[in-house]
Amino acid sequence: MNTLSEIIGREAAQHGVLPFARFMELALYCPVHGYYETKKDNPGRGGDFYTSVGVGGLFGQLLAFQFAEWLETLNPQPSTLNLVEAGAHDGRLARDILAWLQLKRPKLFDQIEYWIIEPSIRRQEWQKETLKDFTPRVRWFESFQSISSPNPKSEIRNPKLSGIIFSNELLDAMPVHRFGWDAQNKKWFEWGVAVDGEKFVWARISDSLASRNRERIGAGAFDPSSIFHLPSSLLAVLPDGYTIETCPAAESWWRDAAKVLGQGKLLAIDYGFTADELFSPARRQGTLRAYFRHHASDDLLANVGEQDLTAHVNFSEIQKTGEACGLTTENFLTQSQFLTRILENAAKDNSLGAWTSARTRQFQTLTHPEHLGRAFRILVQSR
Ligand SMILES: C[S@@+](CC[C@H](N)C(=O)[O-])C[C@H]1O[C@@H](n2cnc3c(N)ncnc32)[C@H](O)[C@@H]1O
Repeated sequence: MNTLSEIIGREAAQHGVLPFARFMELALYCPVHGYYETKKDNPGRGGDFYTSVGVGGLFGQLLAFQFAEWLETLNPQPSTLNLVEAGAHDGRLARDILAWLQLKRPKLFDQIEYWIIEPSIRRQEWQKETLKDFTPRVRWFESFQSISSPNPKSEIRNPKLSGIIFSNELLDAMPVHRFGWDAQNKKWFEWGVAVDGEKFVWARISDSLASRNRERIGAGAFDPSSIFHLPSSLLAVLPDGYTIETCPAAESWWRDAAKVLGQGKLLAIDYGFTADELFSPARRQGTLRAYFRHHASDDLLANVGEQDLTAHVNFSEIQKTGEACGLTTENFLTQSQFLTRILENAAKDNSLGAWTSARTRQFQTLTHPEHLGRAFRILVQSR
């Protein structure tokens, strides 16, 4: 067992069984040993998986063009516009976007403050290093709450911002609760993690522990029957052990983002499905996967802190959450549709500059259905 396993093991032993969401939170975000605290070069070709950002600069340039088009329609009071990114990791996407805006839309660039929502001090340091050429334009906050409740000395008096809040592969990296269907008793149970000797094993969370957890964390927020409204005729034939995940952390993040958006857009780029697509007979084991050296694995409890853990986003729930906060849903597209539209618009005034074969290759990787084009979806909401 490594140090992180020992930390998780101690907490599991104290509670008997840990909800999987807590295991995932510690495995990825333990402040000292968590996967995302220690793996600066992930995502990346030499790491466990890569994202659209790692394909090359084109992804950020296309987003920058689209963001500029949107920002130019806003009329903020006072006149600062915000681009707000979360899940910025090592800051590469921010750098690609800012570099394009500075070069191609210098007037707009002068009006923009780029904010990064980043709870980790270590990742903030990585980002500061990558973005050192843009220091005066970039500002860090550890959460949306730290924008809305500024300290008395801060000059941010109006926490409602005008601009765009966005993320790439953020929501799919948030801790999920994992549930199984108990066909005999016709009810969902939550999967937890326990320690068995030197390793972690799956363990059902008992009804009494589940009700204590509900009291602690809040009832209903992660109860699958309140999220997937399944007819009793379907539940009657649902196979024993059918597995699904819920992600209250993603919903609450989206709610917090919606609350600070005064005017503009909120968008997520992520792999995920609508609730109907998620609940498919072909997906009996849910969507949680581990990624280790570019291989997907179902062994979620192995290589603690050394492998990524990720689950598909339930976009129906995210959409509903935003609408409940007063946002309007504008689009829900595949990455291929979204980026192709942007490219067509950008080509009208040659906004992207010279088109090279390297850019063609990047565009194909980003949009081809077998690569990143179909699995990734973009939800755009606005106020
Ligand atoms: C899969 S990586 C994506 C990184 C980058 N956006 C990209 O596309 O290459 C997910 C990132 O989200 C960060 N993250 C997770 N929860 C977060 C939160 N609540 N606020 C900000 N960042 C978070 C992780 O630390 C990690 O850097």
